[in-house]
Parts: sequence; structure tokens; C-alpha cells
Amino acid sequence: MDVLVTGGTGFIGTHLCRELDDRGHDVTALSRNPGGAGLPSGVETVVGDVTASDAIADAVDGHDAVVNLVALSPLFKPKGGNRRHFEVHLGGTENVVEAAEDAGVEYLLQLSALGADPDGSTAYVRAKGRAEEVVRSSDLAHTVVRPSVVFGDGGEFVAFTKQLTTPYVTGLPGGGRTRFQPIWVGDLAGMLADAAGEETHWGETYELGGPEVLTLGDVTRLVYRAEGRSVRVLPVPMPLAGLGMRLADPLPFVPFGTDQYRSLKFDNTVADNDVSAFGVEASELTTLAAYLGVND
Ligand SMILES: NC(=O)c1ccc[n+]([C@@H]2O[C@H](COP(=O)([O-])OP(=O)(O)OC[C@H]3O[C@@H](n4cnc5c(N)ncnc54)[C@H](OP(=O)(O)O)[C@@H]3O)[C@@H](O)[C@H]2O)c1
Repeated sequence: MDVLVTGGTGFIGTHLCRELDDRGHDVTALSRNPGGAGLPSGVETVVGDVTASDAIADAVDGHDAVVNLVALSPLFKPKGGNRRHFEVHLGGTENVVEAAEDAGVEYLLQLSALGADPDGSTAYVRAKGRAEEVVRSSDLAHTVVRPSVVFGDGGEFVAFTKQLTTPYVTGLPGGGRTRFQPIWVGDLAGMLADAAGEETHWGETYELGGPEVLTLGDVTRLVYRAEGRSVRVLPVPMPLAGLGMRLADPLPFVPFGTDQYRSLKFDNTVADNDVSAFGVEASELTTLAAYLGVND
């Protein structure tokens, strides 16, 4: 299979490109600045900006499949404001889909996110939800994958947790009770490569979570335990956290704002874990504790 991975130089993209390359596929990674991504020598790179349709048509041409991973992180306020989520996730997907249809590409794998919903409460999940609609109404065979938060080398989940907290004593909105189901990037990359390579996954939407549900407080304690430090979590009442984040919204040097607060009001867990569609049990997957080298 000849596959183009848009956003292939990012966190999940580099792991997926390596996996696809290992499986013998011809892989090209597209991004605005693909140099220095640490991709295997067999993976080609191409410069392209998905928000400009004429800048990606040539890059999409000639491939059997496209994996659309281009992202703006939901964990931090985007430079340029929330409209950037619509420009990148929605407009970018529209451009990728149009270029793929024009080029006769057969299949598109769309990386979405848990909670994607055109009427959702944050710009990220609304843009992701509308992007899913674009993919489903296209002429392309497709799979939509909605992972919970992803951890691993090069990821920002652990770094985000440390940025949000302090060791020893830390305040967390609502006492850090928001629940996540973190999935290791190595496990996810294998499932994405399966999805792209096997027709049984066409037309499906998969919600993928890791082996355990952890609260933000649990994650905070694990992250500091891995450094040999303890942390006691003190609850910051949600209304107070909301007020703080609203005040922070216009301040460019504060990385969190209203949408980051809103996202903490909803669990990031799966109702049914679709990892079984890839022949694995959730309990076989890598835990965050194992990745961090912390004994349970
Ligand atoms: N990481 C998670 O925990 C997580 C959880 C759920 C869902 N997801 C989804 O998984 C996908 C991949 O996420 P990730 O964590 O790997 O993201 P990432 O590390 O931030 O990578 C983003 C990639 O997109 C490229 N990119 C950004 N803007 C672009 C543009 N306008 N045109 C072309 N390329 C552009 C970046 O390269 P340049 O900056 O060089 O362009 C980079 O290669 C996203 O759809 C994300 O929403 C991630």
C-alpha cells in the first residue's frame, strides 16, 4: 500500500509511519516543517499545509490511502484562538478529503477524538465532530478512530500534567476527578496500521481506550512517583477553576483557558472499548504505570 500520512511528523504520526514502514508499506509523511522528525530512512517527507487546498493536491496524488493526523492540541489554548481548531481540524479535513477524492485515493483513516460532537462544548470536539461528518459523507472508503488521551515518547500528556500541577502539594479543578483511559502510542499505532490495511475496518468508527481508567489525580500521583516525589492533591472548586480559566482566556502567556476548563468537566473514557476489533484485550495493553516504570 502507498500511504500518505498527513501530520506524519507529529507524536502519533512518527510512531505510525514507523509501524507502516516496518510492515513494508510505502509511506510519505506530510507536514509544514517535516525536517528533523526522526522518521525511518524509508519514509519520505513532503511539505504541505492542509489549510491550503492547492498546497496538498500534488502531495495526495498517487497514493492508495491517506491517514489524516493533522492536529492542534486541545490541551493548550491555540495561538490564533479557537477558530484555529475549525481551520485546521475541519477546513484541513475538507481539503484532505477533496484532494483524495480528486486524486482517486481509495481509503482515508481519520484520527478523531473521544467526545467528537458537532454540538460539543469545546471548539476542539465541535471541529472534530464536523470533520467526522465530512469524512462520512465523502466518496472515500474510511475508518474513524476516536482515541482517549495517548501517552508515550514524544507525547504531551505527561508534560501537560506536570505543567498543570506542582510536586508535593497541588490544586486540581474538582480535586482531579476527571477520568481518562490513557492508551500507549505503541499499542495505538499497531491498531491504526491494521485499520489502514484491512478492509474489515472500512465504514467503522472505533472508540479506543487503554487498559485502565485513571483520574487526573491518579495520573498526577503516578507522574510524580516516577520521579521519586510525592504529591497531595487539593480540590479547587470547579466554579473557582472556571472563573480562573475565564480570566486567563485573553492572557497569551497562560496556556490554559475556558475550553481547557470545559474539557475537564467531561470524562475521557470509552463506553465499549473497541480495541477488541483489532484482536486484543484491553487488559493486554500497556499501562501508564508500566510506561513510567512505576510499580502498581
Ligand atoms: N495525542 C493525543 O493524546 C490524542 C488523543 C486523541 C486524539 N488525537 C488525535 O490524533 C491526531 C494526531 O495527534 P498528535 O498528538 O500526533 O499531534 P501532534 O504531535 O501535535 O502532531 C501534529 C502534526 O500535524 C502537523 N500539522 C499541524 N498543522 C498542520 C497544517 N496546517 N498542515 C499540515 N500539517 C500540520 C504537525 O507538523 P507541522 O507543525 O510541521 O506542520 C505534526 O506533524 C490528531 O488528529 C489528534 O487530534 C490525539
